[in-house]
Amino acid sequence: MRDVSEDRRDLAGEELAGLAAIVGPSHLLVAPSDVEAYAHDWTEDLAAAPAAVARPRTVEEVSALLAYCSARRIPVTPQAGRTGLSGGAIPVRGGLALSVERMASILEIDAANLVAVVEAGVVTQTLQEAVEAEGLSYPPDPASRGSCCIGGNVAENAGGPHAAKYGVTGRWVMGLEAVLPSGAVLTTGGKTRKDVAGYDLTSLIVGSEGTLAVVTKAWLRLIPKPRSAAVLVAPFPTLEEAARCVVEITRNGLLPAALEIVDKPAIDVASAKKGVTPPFPEADARLLVEFDGGGDEEVERDVMRCGELALACGALDVVLATDEARRRALWDVRRGISEAIRDRGVSVELDLAVPRTELVALVTGVRRIARGAGLDPFCYGHAGDGNLHVRLLRTGETERRPERFEEAVSEIYAEALRLGGTLTGEHGVGIHLRSRLPLRLAPPLLAAMRAVKDALDPLGILNPGKVFA
Ligand code: LAC
Ligand code: ZN
Repeated sequence: MRDVSEDRRDLAGEELAGLAAIVGPSHLLVAPSDVEAYAHDWTEDLAAAPAAVARPRTVEEVSALLAYCSARRIPVTPQAGRTGLSGGAIPVRGGLALSVERMASILEIDAANLVAVVEAGVVTQTLQEAVEAEGLSYPPDPASRGSCCIGGNVAENAGGPHAAKYGVTGRWVMGLEAVLPSGAVLTTGGKTRKDVAGYDLTSLIVGSEGTLAVVTKAWLRLIPKPRSAAVLVAPFPTLEEAARCVVEITRNGLLPAALEIVDKPAIDVASAKKGVTPPFPEADARLLVEFDGGGDEEVERDVMRCGELALACGALDVVLATDEARRRALWDVRRGISEAIRDRGVSVELDLAVPRTELVALVTGVRRIARGAGLDPFCYGHAGDGNLHVRLLRTGETERRPERFEEAVSEIYAEALRLGGTLTGEHGVGIHLRSRLPLRLAPPLLAAMRAVKDALDPLGILNPGKVFA
């Protein structure tokens, strides 16, 4: 692990006692072996140990913790599933890690209003399965959905494959209960579907990466579960052809529920981990396209049309999966890519996003730059959203010439920006991108964001060191 602590704040014995009095001694962790897991998320091999971890059970406890820390200028790092990929949950300043893991109740599934009310520590997949059991659906599905939590999804405005049709987390948040650094508890929105009374602070807190408030509860929009779904896999001779097909699919009026691109290195590593062999192993890339809808006929028509388009775009073949077991197996491999690459060594994950029409230029540029620096990138991601993950292992050539590696990373980011894109589509800024943020945001916009931060967190105790350099 690489220690990324900076300006570390320890806690005095009297402070530990004060915090323990709020949550109860058994929910204030201080032993190094107990806090170790809270020192990192899934970002590279970065870690910074908090001085203590508090595991509150109620919003009152969260409020009391924050008021206590404000009074003593103790840095607080909110944490949920700790699966983030930008270092947002790493307690870089030490101090207190505030984990919402015990606030894990699904409080209500209101089928008539199509709303779920959940605590921040509910695991995303747990919620999805609970609503599906009632014939409903909560679509946002980050690849880590089995471990990540709603609180973290809200904080990062997490995406995932089904954002292609259904949008990212923020689109599903109707209201929040969140605690400001002062300890003040805000409730924004709720079950009412339309509400424009005042500023939209729900949207402000969504994606603020735990730097403005600690999310404790969310009102989430639901939909009836689509009655039918089918997945198509199309292997292509080149990554560029696969990327070109993405635009053709949408140009032809199709709206896939998910539209993923996966290159050969990524599918190879994930398939090997699951012990499966993908069809057409020699293909340079493949698209995984899911359609869903109200009936088999509609889904079948779309999937057939998509298959024809893929073949016209140069696909080697198209393979259909209509039964649920087969679809699950395909998604299992796809969701496992990130973890499978992590097994191979420490890597940097870039989360580029460009207008969908620039995806071909982006994949071409990424490979040119990476290979020019002696690197073998893994390219995969949410092509339907123009969102490409690029993983670069910090091994081999990189270890010998780290400056060349950093140069290549900078060139790749510059290429995404040149194409009208952004530095991160769904993983957030955290510590990973804070020094590059000014490349994306013009000074007046950055200044407005800082003003918001200063207004809600005047003492700068909440998730310090994140987003802003
Ligand atoms: C994925 C994560 C890394 O799409 O965002 O697999
Ligand atoms: Zn992703």
